[in-house]
Amino acid sequence: MKLLHLDSSVLGPHSVSRQVSAAIVERLRAATPGLDVAYRDLTLTPLAHLTGFHLAAGQGVPAEPNLRDDIAAGQAVLDEFLAADIVVIGAPMYNFTIPSQLKAWIDRVLVAGKTFKYGSEGVQGLAGHKRIIVAISRGGFYGAGTPAAVGEHLETYLRWVFGFIGVTDPEFISADGIQIGPEHREKAVAGALKAAGSLRAA
Ligand SMILES: Cc1cc2nc3c(=O)[nH]c(=O)nc-3n(C[C@H](O)[C@H](O)[C@H](O)COP(=O)(O)O)c2cc1C
Repeated sequence: MKLLHLDSSVLGPHSVSRQVSAAIVERLRAATPGLDVAYRDLTLTPLAHLTGFHLAAGQGVPAEPNLRDDIAAGQAVLDEFLAADIVVIGAPMYNFTIPSQLKAWIDRVLVAGKTFKYGSEGVQGLAGHKRIIVAISRGGFYGAGTPAAVGEHLETYLRWVFGFIGVTDPEFISADGIQIGPEHREKAVAGALKAAGSLRAA
């Protein structure tokens, strides 16, 4: 069984989502003998934003030499995603949504004919057999019924993205209120780590 572990926080060792995503992977590794884990840090090796030249290359137009490495990197992340049974993602909230590094990854993974397709019934997800677990960290609170709920475009966005490719039951572990104060941060991290430790085995 293959697990793909991604991180997208720019805060390195100070990151909450990295700490929680690592705990999720450790829990699944301990519970699943022989689990094959691949790791990608989307901030250390960022993918470029998509351009018209990327799309043209996808249609068979020869790419300019300066784009070839990035196109190969995009193909590698798609292959890595397609090969994974489980995907664990560290996803901090930056300006109400995901980091742009994670968006650049999504732009390479949502590919017609690979992870979804259009047919007579509309869109059909092709990746529905995968298990996706997301470690979210947010500075504030965005729960249903709070004034900020309407500004939540991290979890709601990822639910939609993964549902679009067929994963209708992505799992989320959240550490919220990280910027409210040290006590709150400690409590939120402890809660998220506890939830990670209680995840069902792979
Ligand atoms: C550039 C930046 C933008 C942020 N934007 C938001 C935001 O819109 N809403 C929020 O609740 N917290 C925001 N925060 C706080 C982070 O979500 C919080 O610190 C979280 O722990 C970040 O995850 P990380 O520790 O894994 O990097 C922001 C932090 C940074 C660095």
